[in-house]
Amino acid sequence: MVNQDFSSMDKSDQMLIPPETFAAPKESLTEQLFIERSLTENRFWLRIMKEHAYFLGEGFSRRDKQLIQQTDRFYHFFEQQEKRAHQTPNDVTAVRKLNEDTIQLVYGFRNFKRNLLIMIVNCQVAGFNFPLLVDHIAREAEYFMRTLKKFNDGILEPIQDSIIKENVFWLKIMMEHSRFIASLLDQSERNLVHTASKFGDDFEVLLNQARDVESMLLKRKPTYPIIGKLNQDSENATVELRNFKQVGLDLIKSCQIRNVIDPLLADHVVREANHFLSMIHALDKRLQEKKSAEQPK
Ligand SMILES: [Fe+2]
Ligand SMILES: [Fe+2]
Repeated sequence: MVNQDFSSMDKSDQMLIPPETFAAPKESLTEQLFIERSLTENRFWLRIMKEHAYFLGEGFSRRDKQLIQQTDRFYHFFEQQEKRAHQTPNDVTAVRKLNEDTIQLVYGFRNFKRNLLIMIVNCQVAGFNFPLLVDHIAREAEYFMRTLKKFNDGILEPIQDSIIKENVFWLKIMMEHSRFIASLLDQSERNLVHTASKFGDDFEVLLNQARDVESMLLKRKPTYPIIGKLNQDSENATVELRNFKQVGLDLIKSCQIRNVIDPLLADHVVREANHFLSMIHALDKRLQEKKSAEQPK
């Protein structure tokens, strides 16, 4: 019989140390980066939130006057806050306050979306707001709040964790956009419906791969080649999807295809794809800088 006495094992045995110990430490956000990133995210997402209020309003039954009124109010609040974000000076205190107020406003809208979703799946609200769409836009609100909270706490996650988390979030968003497009095109647009569905399946594979990497490498020792490849695969797929969405938007605006997609929604998903791409580029830049800093001289 093998007598296993773990307590007598050599303390220096690396294999028994929690792997989280070897993760890269959190970094701190410089003032300039805090201001730049905060203003960019506010300006982008406040417009997105305003449009979510509009889309929800359009999707209600005309009998639901109260819900329509509530989304109109949110539209107005987000419009005001968006203007404020464009006028906020490059000043740490002003930007911090902007972030705080935005978080409060988005929190209210996030709660509204989540409560609405429960009512829809309980058949207490009719209309054309699909449950998965409501869940999707609630997740976008939660992501926006999380991002601003991290900024205000001065947290910059290790590059590996940032790449993993951003990709897991955005790949699901891209997968769902593809499927929303497939279901809002007229089914007689056979080629476009097929292409959109194919994008949905491709992004589902990428999402599952990113989740596998998350399970293996989140909060672990830096393993940059794997992380770099994950980010690169996402970039390639997202450039293709963005181009498809852009072509779709042009066809919708010029009334060349049969569909029930609001041109503003088509534009909205193009902007979200572009935002993911700019995120991918910023992350890749940070990754390359880390790699060259750690290269033995
Ligand atoms: Fe959105
Ligand atoms: Fe979206």
